[in-house]
Amino acid sequence: MRTPIIAGNWKMNKTLAEARTLVSAMRDDLAQLARDGKIEIVLCPPFIAIPQVAELVAGSPIRVGAQNVHWESKGAFTGEIAPAMLNEICDYVIIGHSERRQFFSETDQGVNKKIKAALAHHLKPIVCVGENLAQNEAGQTDALVGAQVRAAFQDISRDDARGIIIAYEPIWAIGTGKAASGAGANAVIGITIRGALADLYGEEIAQAVRVQYGGSVTPKNVAEFFAQPDIDGALVGGASLVAADFVAICQAANPKGR
Ligand code: PGA
Repeated sequence: MRTPIIAGNWKMNKTLAEARTLVSAMRDDLAQLARDGKIEIVLCPPFIAIPQVAELVAGSPIRVGAQNVHWESKGAFTGEIAPAMLNEICDYVIIGHSERRQFFSETDQGVNKKIKAALAHHLKPIVCVGENLAQNEAGQTDALVGAQVRAAFQDISRDDARGIIIAYEPIWAIGTGKAASGAGANAVIGITIRGALADLYGEEIAQAVRVQYGGSVTPKNVAEFFAQPDIDGALVGGASLVAADFVAICQAANPKGR
């Protein structure tokens, strides 16, 4: 059975004061939803707010993650954050988000290095893959997303692979209000992503790895995604900034593989 995982990617939003207000507004509801371990809930604020958010959810089952990490463990990398700095205060890290690939020149090779660094420091990677609109319309989704998965997992052991979370985020669906269809996302996840994992590690790992859908997930459309057999949760951007919306999305999550 794969435990659904819902992560809120706040992106570059919320001051410390705003972060406190948001977490305070949803903490009790989220803690209640995650209390029996049937779903995992992760909040991913900007770096600067991580310690505060971690403190606000301390003692609850709510988990905290970062939105990026550097692969080096320390040194002259102005502006970067090392994995050892993160694992003191959070458990997860988003790696290879399309905004980082697009605006900060992240490559498949860098994503692979970041995943290895995160794993070495006991951070759970949430690895983002997804095609843009032109690639989608040109019928390149399968080839592109498959290649992203293979590159991300290069030289990663079976044991490590099992614990990695993948987020399938078609770029054309991120922040646009135009989510993928549940069936469409399920096909990419079930066939392309699990297919690539099966090639790399065999069917057992392919079925064990959790794969989220991300891109304009809202309380209104989330049930369609969670009803799909291959979708194990959501990576939520805009709707994770509104307490009632994020709570409603987490409420809709249901365990798979019964
Ligand atoms: P969105 O963002 O929910 O605002 O579309 C999702 C993401 O980029 O993780």
